[in-house]
Amino acid sequence: MRKQVKTAAPAAVTAAVMLIAVPWTAHGQSAGQWKNPDHLYSKICANCHDTGVAPTIVGRDFKADHYVTTVRRGSKAMPAFRITEIDDAALLALAEQLAAVPHMDTIEVKQ
Ligand code: HEC
Repeated sequence: MRKQVKTAAPAAVTAAVMLIAVPWTAHGQSAGQWKNPDHLYSKICANCHDTGVAPTIVGRDFKADHYVTTVRRGSKAMPAFRITEIDDAALLALAEQLAAVPHMDTIEVKQ
C-alpha cells in the first residue's frame, strides 16, 4: 500500500506564511530601533499596505486606537506584532501620525 502524504497542503501554507513573515522578523528587531514613524511604516506596514497585499491604511479616518489594537492583536491575514518587534512608543507615534492624515477619496498605491 502506498502511503499518501497528507501534509502537503498545510506545509505549502506554512511556507507561504514564512515567506511573508520572515523579512521583518528574521533580523532580530528589538525595541527602540525605529528612528521615526516613517521608518517603521516603510520597513513594516508598507510591505503589505502599499503593495496591494492589504488595504490602504492611510487617510481612512481610523482613530489612533484602531492602529494600535490591530497591530497588537492582528486581524485575519495580518499578523500581530509584539512589543519586541514594535515598541509601544514607536507604535503610538505611528498610530497618531496615521490617524492625523486627512480622509482621502482616491488612494495612490506606491509600487
Ligand atoms: C503581512 C502583511 C501586513 C503587514 C506587515 C501589516 N499589515 Fe496591516 N493588515 C494586513 C491585512 C491582510 C489586513 C486586512 C485584514 C482584515 O481584513 O482584517 C490588515 C489590516 C490592517 C488594519 C485594519 C484596516 C481596517 O480596514 O480596519 C490596520 C489599522 C492595519 N492593518 C495597520 C497596520 C500597521 C500600522 C502596520 C505596520 C505596523 C501593518 N498593518 C502591517 C496585512 C499586514
